[in-house]
Amino acid sequence: MAKDVIIACDFPGREETLGFLEDFKDEKLFLKIGMELFYSQGPDIVREIKDMGHRIFLDLKLHDIPNTVKSAMKVLKGLSVDMVNVHAAGTSEMMKAALEGLSEGTEERPLLIAVTQLTSTGKESLMSELLINSSMEETVMHYALNARNSGLDGVVCSPLEAKDVHKVCGDDFLTVTPGIRFKDSSADDQKRIMTPEMASKAGSDYIVVGRPVTRADDPKEAYRRCRKEFLGE
Ligand code: C5P
Repeated sequence: MAKDVIIACDFPGREETLGFLEDFKDEKLFLKIGMELFYSQGPDIVREIKDMGHRIFLDLKLHDIPNTVKSAMKVLKGLSVDMVNVHAAGTSEMMKAALEGLSEGTEERPLLIAVTQLTSTGKESLMSELLINSSMEETVMHYALNARNSGLDGVVCSPLEAKDVHKVCGDDFLTVTPGIRFKDSSADDQKRIMTPEMASKAGSDYIVVGRPVTRADDPKEAYRRCRKEFLGE
């Protein structure tokens, strides 16, 4: 199974993003583009980065009625991105509709993964606001299984959950895991973290790394270190 390092391009605009990519002229990267960059620059930034030969995980976390999500996915597929996502909370019907939108017309489609519970949602709000009385672990595994049964390719989760997700959903179900930090780097606002090496041992398929690479004094060296620790290269 493919394992890879995805760099989170959490930059406010085009200039900062392309400035960062200058350093990586000779490499083909896997980059995560999130809402900030997409909403500020529109689909053109995706096309521009694709044209440079990089792969893209477009992290827009769709969550709407099935028909709307299906139509939106048809549009995103036209951008030739490599990975997209939805909220599993949108229900199995919505996840299946997303998959239909991505699959219509061609055999090749981007990987489709689901967000289970956001890591920013605490136990308290799970119960008192969302009225979910199951534990966080149970909820995450149940949502992951819904995603698997809807035909999705995997979930975004903490590397600490990767083993259990594989146990419940199978080894071929992808775990895409943020919350990655080097042993000697700052945790920033991340709480439950693992090093690339630990994440690899825990069974993460893709690690998503932002600030430890984008804010490093030497981003190229930091990226290399990620690959070495995670992929053993
Ligand atoms: O800079 P850092 O390595 O913390 O970046 C992690 C990236 O993964 C960010 O883009 C963040 O929004 C995203 N993410 C996360 N935790 C989640 C889901 C996404 O950190 N549960």
